[in-house]
Amino acid sequence: MSVDCFIRVENLRLVRSGKLIFSIDEFSLARGEVRALVGPNGAGKSSLLLTLALLEAADEGSIFLDGEKAGRSNVLSLRRRMALVFQEALLLDTSVRRNLLIALRLRGVTGRKALARAEKWLDRFGIAHLAGRSARHLSGGEAQRTSLARAFALEPEVLFLDEPFGSLDYPTRKSLLNELGQILNDMNMTTLFVTHDYSEIPYIAPNVTVLHEGRIVRSGTVTEIFGEEFPGRRSWAPWEDPAP
Ligand SMILES: Nc1ncnc2c1ncn2[C@@H]1O[C@H](COP(=O)(O)OP(=O)(O)OP(=O)(O)O)[C@@H](O)[C@H]1O
Ligand SMILES: [Mg+2]
Repeated sequence: MSVDCFIRVENLRLVRSGKLIFSIDEFSLARGEVRALVGPNGAGKSSLLLTLALLEAADEGSIFLDGEKAGRSNVLSLRRRMALVFQEALLLDTSVRRNLLIALRLRGVTGRKALARAEKWLDRFGIAHLAGRSARHLSGGEAQRTSLARAFALEPEVLFLDEPFGSLDYPTRKSLLNELGQILNDMNMTTLFVTHDYSEIPYIAPNVTVLHEGRIVRSGTVTEIFGEEFPGRRSWAPWEDPAP
């Protein structure tokens, strides 16, 4: 396996209520790689993402971040190098700007530096005009822009996205996909992107891993997994045979 793996997993298993949720012999993300993680409902995508983000403790196996093995003593410092965005924006009941400032303060960034970072990312996600607005009164698209701006303001080394566009309407989703794809490209951010909508993948991720019943069944480029006609054949489920 390449030494430039930024995240690497060995023999990782998660068991909950006596059930094997996933069993991953090998998985890695290179530094700067953007990879989509797809699979049917219940495949274990969110569980794997939370485990990689060190928010769920695996029952067996190891996770390495930048060559450092995650363990009890370093879990907090490793977590500070990551950020997550979920389908629900999970904002605090305060202003949009303060949502970013509070997250930054938790990572030790305060004062002018925090303010500058918050302004930069609110602007980059097109919501600078909403900075003083209560996060409670945002549309779904605005809330998800806030959640993304908050994640990027933390300047993480790894970004985990769990169906971030799942509850957005088509025009909102399309413009955010374009913007996020551009930003990820500019930033060279190591990213794992869970989605159910394969048509989103080409905007975001050149590589795809397919999870089925807790196991990785395929991994490759978008074309290797979905074929040349993609996204024309997006109703095909990549965990089913035959391959396109
Ligand atoms: N704490 C838990 N206790 C018992 N079972 C769990 C627990 N957490 C997850 N599971 C089970 O693990 C399986 C994988 O769940 P997970 O949420 O990771 O799937 P997913 O691929 O993200 O699905 P979806 O596409 O619906 O979001 C499911 O069968 C779920 O019920
Ligand atoms: Mg899920």
